[in-house]
Amino acid sequence: MQPAKAETSQTATKDMKDIVALCKRRGFVFPASDIYGGINGFWDYGPLGVELKNNLRDLWWRRMVTCPPIGPDGHPVQIVGVDSAIIQNPKAWVASGHVGGFSDPMVDCRETKLRYREDKLKAMTVVDKKGDNFYIAFDEDADQEIIQKRLKKLGIAYEANAPMGAFEKMYKDVPNFLEKVIGPDASKVGTLTPPKQFNLMFQTYVGATADEDSKAYLRPETAQGIFLNYKNVLDSSRVKIPFGIAQIGKAFRNEVNPRNFIFRSREFEQMELEWFCHKDDAAKWQKFWFEERKKFWKDLGLSDENLQMRNHDSDELSHYAKAGLGTADIEYKFPFTAPGFGELEGIAHRCDFDLTQHQQHSGEKMEYIDPDDPKNRYIPHVIEPAAGLTRGVLALLCEAFTPDPNRPSGVYLNFHPKIAPKKAAILPLMAKDGHPEKAEKLYMELREEFPVDLDIKQNIGKRYARQDEIGTPFCFTIDNDTMNDDTVTVRERNTMAQERISMSKVAEYLRTKMKV
Ligand code: GAP
Repeated sequence: MQPAKAETSQTATKDMKDIVALCKRRGFVFPASDIYGGINGFWDYGPLGVELKNNLRDLWWRRMVTCPPIGPDGHPVQIVGVDSAIIQNPKAWVASGHVGGFSDPMVDCRETKLRYREDKLKAMTVVDKKGDNFYIAFDEDADQEIIQKRLKKLGIAYEANAPMGAFEKMYKDVPNFLEKVIGPDASKVGTLTPPKQFNLMFQTYVGATADEDSKAYLRPETAQGIFLNYKNVLDSSRVKIPFGIAQIGKAFRNEVNPRNFIFRSREFEQMELEWFCHKDDAAKWQKFWFEERKKFWKDLGLSDENLQMRNHDSDELSHYAKAGLGTADIEYKFPFTAPGFGELEGIAHRCDFDLTQHQQHSGEKMEYIDPDDPKNRYIPHVIEPAAGLTRGVLALLCEAFTPDPNRPSGVYLNFHPKIAPKKAAILPLMAKDGHPEKAEKLYMELREEFPVDLDIKQNIGKRYARQDEIGTPFCFTIDNDTMNDDTVTVRERNTMAQERISMSKVAEYLRTKMKV
């Protein structure tokens, strides 16, 4: 585990409010059911958001399935893909442990009617006039400013060094804690209820009758669809241990407290790999996948200083990772976690938990038979790099968001060209003198290969500003010189530097930039 690094000036100037506003203004992400006031925990991706998300999805798929990495032995590793159903036989979720144990502890506030995740609260110890202790609960993300404001509102003198601890621990250790604590949004003590386990799976009914027998669940992770198909894949393709099965798709969790824009939502997308190996090789593969996955995020433009690795503490481990090597997270410094970090991807050692459970519950044998030695049979162990696709989109947006008072837009999105929704814009300087025709010719050539914008109207400054705000890395401008010598001006988004290149070289220029 690395210590949290000092906040950089760049991260410090990024404000989530500005990022969320740009996402709406430019068509990246909208609140779902916006015209009805939204629905908490659900988001829609707009014209540019869906392109950004698809780019990340496609790059992950390419890196994992189409062109997988070179393994420790110098050969590409073997990975195949699946796309399983969101609704599976409910017995699968009993076997996986989700029906019994996929829950978060929640507390309700009787005063405000708000609901909190107990494990995401902290509490401050305060002393009253009589010298007795009482407590004030805060959200775990509450910073000094929020804490000061709240204390002021409650009429309590701010004390910088007042002890702060995990709510969960205080609930266990302090006698009658609930009678002495003020809830995170409450004004009086004693309004929080004792924590209750709350199952996060969304339920539905399959078919015409809505009873216990037709109850089903929306998948809370894509992983189980892979385990359910493990045998089918083994029997139908020529994979041999070690190998991987990958899946990208929607997952649903009825989160107690969806928050921080698309960071924690109730409907989201995951990109998961289940890597099946012999148990003796699990440590080697966990290290391999950790390095590989970190490299992936760095290649897409997430900076070193905003990424860190963190091993889960033993009390955080999921049920399936308890017996093994644990879970190592790749964390990103989001503006709302800074100077701390938030999970982006976990690389868990799931042991043989899932296949063993499905073998017991379904009666189907999940053993792998070594093709070179049929006496060597075993249930493979699993290393699972599990990333959030939508959370990855948020990390890319946060990283790219760059306030810049020196340009008309005041901000630009510094996307890597591979990720940018639009790779280039073609801008005729004027809407006359043959400029639009030349621009259209270039556009018709480039559109075959790249997502590009042709933008004819408005003054050039406004058009640059729009492209800066949506993160288009290059603008090609057609002007009077183009009419004489068939050259165009390339404007590079980050530096705003301009150079002149031949129109016939534009496609090659873009091709080269996409690879960097
Ligand atoms: N199969 C293992 C698994 O699902 P997880 O840590 O619960 O593990 C994997 O989820 C990734 O999915 C997380 O690292 C995160 O990026 C993303 N994720 C999980 N819950 C999410 C939520 N409510 N909203 C958005 N992304 C979420």
